[in-house]
Amino acid sequence: MVKGSTKVCMILGYPLKHSRSPLMHNAAFAVLGLDYIYIPVEIRPGGLASMVKAIREQENFGGANITVPYKVEVREYLDGWSKEAERIGAVNTLSRRGGKLWGENTDGRGFLTSLREEAGFLPQGKRVMLLGAGGAARAVAQSLVQEGAEKIYLVNRTAEKARQLTSSLSGRAESGSVMPMGFADPPFGDALQGCHLLINSTSVGLGRDDPPLFDYHLLPSMLLVYDLIYDPPLTPLLRAAQERGCAVLNGLGMLVHQGALSFEIWTGRRAPVEAMREAVQARDNLLDMPVR
Ligand code: ATR
Repeated sequence: MVKGSTKVCMILGYPLKHSRSPLMHNAAFAVLGLDYIYIPVEIRPGGLASMVKAIREQENFGGANITVPYKVEVREYLDGWSKEAERIGAVNTLSRRGGKLWGENTDGRGFLTSLREEAGFLPQGKRVMLLGAGGAARAVAQSLVQEGAEKIYLVNRTAEKARQLTSSLSGRAESGSVMPMGFADPPFGDALQGCHLLINSTSVGLGRDDPPLFDYHLLPSMLLVYDLIYDPPLTPLLRAAQERGCAVLNGLGMLVHQGALSFEIWTGRRAPVEAMREAVQARDNLLDMPVR
C-alpha cells in the first residue's frame, strides 16, 4: 500500500515499456515489508538534467536506477561516483548520501555474481571471448579485467570500436592481455577454441530472425556461453551452444544480481534474490534454464 510516508525509488531511461525492474524491486519491497515503491520514469531525450534536479528536491527519494540511454550522461548532474563507476565510465544506481547525489555501477558485480552463483565460474586465469563493444560490453569487460582473466578477446562487428574499448579499459596492464578483433579476422576461430567462456553483449538474438553472429558450428563443447539477452530466454546462440553440449546462461541472472546490489545500497537490507528472480520470471512464464 502506498502511503504518505512511502519512499519512492525509480528507474530513469527511455524507453521503459519492457523494463522488468519495477516488478523485481516491488516484489523485493513486499517480501521484506518495506515502505518503498519503485516506478518507471520515462525521460524524453534532453530531459535528464531537469529530472535529476527535481530528484534533489524530492524529500522522499529512495534511490534510482539509470538505464539506456542515460548511464553515461547522468554523471554530469551528480556530486560524485564510486571508483567502480569511474572505471566502467557509467552509472546505473543513484542514492542520496548526506545530502549529496551519489552514483554507483552494479552491472559488473551483478554479472560476476551471476557467473559465480549460477555456473560456479570464476574468471581469474580464464580465457574469455566477449562479443560486442557497446555499453553493456564495457561493464562486463572491465569486471573481467578486474577479476584477473588471463586473456580477453573483444570481438565486434566494427573492429575500431573494439580497439577503442580495449585501450580505454583500466588496469589491463596488470591483468592478462586484452585483444580486439573482428568476426572475420583469421585468429577468430582459434581464439574461440581456446576459450573457457563466451559472452554475447550485442543486440543480435533479440529479434527472432536475426542472422547468426558467426558460424555456430565453431563452438567448442567445453564452453560456458553467457548471453546478456534474457528475452527471448533462449537465443539462437544459446540454442546452438546447448545443442553442442555447452553450458548456457541467459542475462536474467545479471539483471537480478545488479538489481539486488542496487536494492542493498538503497535499503541497507539483504536483497531477497530468489523472490526477485521469481518476479522477473513470472512475467511471461520464462523458462528456467539450469546450467548443464
Ligand atoms: P548496449 O548498451 O546494450 O551494449 P549498444 O551500445 O548499442 O548497446 O551496442 C550494441 C552492440 O551490438 C555493438 O557492439 C554493435 O556492434 P557495432 O559496434 O558494430 O555497431 C552490436 N551489434 C548490433 N547489431 C549487430 C549485428 N547485426 N551484427 C553484429 N553486431 C551487432
